Amino acid sequence: MSTITNITSVTFRPANLSDIALLQYWDQQPHVIAAHPNDQWNWRVELKQSPAWRKMLIAEDGGRPIGFVQIIDPAKEESRYWGDITGGFRALDIWIGEESDLGQGYGTVMMEQILALCFEDTSVIGVLVDPLADNTRSHRFYERFGFQFAERRQFGRDDCFVYLLSRDDWMKRTVIPDSGK
Ligand SMILES: CC(C)(COP(=O)(O)OP(=O)(O)OC[C@H]1O[C@@H](n2cnc3c(N)ncnc32)[C@H](O)[C@@H]1OP(=O)(O)O)[C@@H](O)C(=O)NCCC(=O)NCCS
Repeated sequence: MSTITNITSVTFRPANLSDIALLQYWDQQPHVIAAHPNDQWNWRVELKQSPAWRKMLIAEDGGRPIGFVQIIDPAKEESRYWGDITGGFRALDIWIGEESDLGQGYGTVMMEQILALCFEDTSVIGVLVDPLADNTRSHRFYERFGFQFAERRQFGRDDCFVYLLSRDDWMKRTVIPDSGK
């Protein structure tokens, strides 16, 4: 059942070196480990770099950090994580830091804003996510935004479901009905 919430907006700022301790603490939370059991983010290295193909953002509620989002251009990402992929896509990673903040509506508000940011770039035709195959709650979360299952794919040791939100499906959700005036 979805949570009824009063949360209407969160703000985003670039993650920076002063966030290392916070991000490392979030990395140790069981729900974050469960979603990314084989990922080891080297924040000290990553946060020193700001390549044009990546945004690392901290979401805040009234100045309190509540979550993290990474947006990449998978065609330009240097490790070629997404393999051979054409331009025009964005790929996301998202998590809420504190377990007590899960299921309060933060993720929904964050995703709405992040998807709007991605599609603001008119060259973007689709947004990708790759949750673990067994992370069924996150599948439901993404499906609510119109993401469609694309394929089951192995990324390193991770058995993942790839989901795609096309610009068309995003537009269908965000279209404002004509008031008739
Ligand atoms: C996925 C996630 C960002 C959603 O944010 P949220 O603030 O918890 O979500 P909301 O309160 O806006 O919406 C609730 C929905 O989020 C999903 N959700 C809630 N807790 C979750 C959890 N521990 N793990 C995965 N999805 C979860 C469910 O779909 C839930 O709906 P439901 O109650 O009908 O099952 C957040 O739960 C999270 O950080 N989960 C752990 C990391 C993760 O799974 N990231 C995504 C895969 S890479």
